[in-house]
Amino acid sequence: MDIAVPKYLQQLKPYVAGKPIAEVQAQYGISSPTKLASNENPLGPSPKAIEAISKALKDIHRYPDSHCLSLRRKLATYLQIEERQIVLGNGSDEIMALIGQALLLPEEEVITPYPAFSIYEKVAVMAQARLFKVPLKELKIDLKKIREKVSSKTKLIFLTNPHNPTGSFLEKEELVVFLKNLPSSVLVVLDEAYIDFVQPQRRFNSIALLENFPNLIILRTFSKAYGLAGLRIGYGILTPELARFLETVRYPFNVNALAQIGATAALDDKDFLEKTQHTIWEGRQFLTAALTSLGVKVYPSEANFLLIYVGKKAKKIYEDLLKKGIIVRPMVSYALADYLRISIGKPEENQAFIETFKEIWQK
Ligand SMILES: Cc1ncc(COP(=O)(O)O)c(C=O)c1O
Repeated sequence: MDIAVPKYLQQLKPYVAGKPIAEVQAQYGISSPTKLASNENPLGPSPKAIEAISKALKDIHRYPDSHCLSLRRKLATYLQIEERQIVLGNGSDEIMALIGQALLLPEEEVITPYPAFSIYEKVAVMAQARLFKVPLKELKIDLKKIREKVSSKTKLIFLTNPHNPTGSFLEKEELVVFLKNLPSSVLVVLDEAYIDFVQPQRRFNSIALLENFPNLIILRTFSKAYGLAGLRIGYGILTPELARFLETVRYPFNVNALAQIGATAALDDKDFLEKTQHTIWEGRQFLTAALTSLGVKVYPSEANFLLIYVGKKAKKIYEDLLKKGIIVRPMVSYALADYLRISIGKPEENQAFIETFKEIWQK
């Protein structure tokens, strides 16, 4: 190719998403595959969001509100924070990109657990920062090793709680100790995409930590518990000073009108949120017990998915499941080739998965 491309981009690979339903339909002739691959909400979108979006369709000739005022107000009240502490994005992954664009300089250092959500790496590479990947310890984030990697050049640390792809959880105490021992010049991005699935007795209010740790940025999304992954909307919670920098690089209409309306309605849909949580908690228990009884190693998860160890047969099991219309997530792109990640589905989907998996596993 004659076109010169930035050298630093060559180390990046395109994102590997869960296999789309349409592809399985076309490839295997299965009319309604069960998708347990992308940690989506198995119950669909919040009904209140659907209703609000349907009503708003007639207005889509208008640009969206660039400032997301109604949603911002509602979120600020709901989270008990100031409106100017919120930055809204086209999915929380856009907030990650904004952080990189607004705050990271070339040669500064970024630390991520490894494996982790691949966008963290993208953010570091795009900013020409130096990336350090700290291996998980027994598939949990190793805060001690991350702390040891911190140098005078460290600018940003990504943490995920619960972690993807393992579902492991950082307790409040360990996080606070970690933050206390960190220079205040190091930003910590705490990605809480799966926070709503944590058991209530373990969950803690990370937003309250912002008072003592202004170097903390919390990320949340409407893609998981609120069932709005297809609309693309997420947000960051941070100090007004940092938020202002992100706002300066954000494109004006990054959050589309239907996403704003859907998210605002979904926040009021307490019943749907609770139903979703119970579906995940019960499904998580059911699948953990069923897989364990088949002799499969299941990693304890506080998220809406389970990481399982299946050994060298992982690729074969994944393909055999696909042929039977069940889509799970292979973990090759997460450097966990002997593992699979199963998103928790509806009870009947979980049951179908277990029955099919059992046949394949015991073959
Ligand atoms: C850890 C983690 N963070 C963020 C996201 C992306 O969320 P969003 O859909 O808001 O971009 C995902 C999506 O799977 C994720 O696993």
